Amino acid sequence: MTAFLELVTSYLALIAYIATLLPSNLIVVFSSWKKFYWRRILLKNRRKIGLICFLFSIIHGVIIAQTRGLDMLSLNTYIDYFTGLGSILIFAILAVTSNNWSIRKLRKNWKKLHRLTYFALMLLILHLLLAKQGEWDWYTWCGFFSLSLMTCLWLLRILLRWRF
Ligand code: HEM
Repeated sequence: MTAFLELVTSYLALIAYIATLLPSNLIVVFSSWKKFYWRRILLKNRRKIGLICFLFSIIHGVIIAQTRGLDMLSLNTYIDYFTGLGSILIFAILAVTSNNWSIRKLRKNWKKLHRLTYFALMLLILHLLLAKQGEWDWYTWCGFFSLSLMTCLWLLRILLRWRF
């Protein structure tokens, strides 16, 4: 049961995370999707979806910490699990600053700060590579493919902005 919960929460977190990236990245290749209803829904609820991602990430992390008996006071835990813990830290920063007050206070820096989400993207790709260590199921491949696709779209976005 715990293994099942660990798996479900990890993928719910991943799906919610990808849902936060979709509206701004998918239109790089499908510009006509700009006006689509689903995009407006995702954009409107992006902050809430981000918080859901954070919540499921925490549950996944806590289950792992309990089942593996991780010592949170040991430096080795932070070294061994830096990809998961690093992405949770980023999600925490984004969650805490996902409110109108922070947007007003941080102004232009808010956007810069929230670009940290792409650092979490890199960490999560590493997370799958390191945490699963070759024992990949079909759903691990789906997760890896989705994260890689988001990375490609993001890089394409940067390239297009830089060229034009
Ligand atoms: C405290 C932070 C975290 C820790 C300690 C952690 C640890 C782990 C470990 C040990 C595994 C391998 C489990 C296994 O062998 O079956 C794993 C898998 C996974 N984690 Fe995390 N993780 C953390 C955060 C995250 C976050 C933030 C996400 C996504 C937003 C995430 C998504 C996943 C996914 C999708 C898998 C693959 C599950 C599978 O295909 O079996 N993890 N994690």
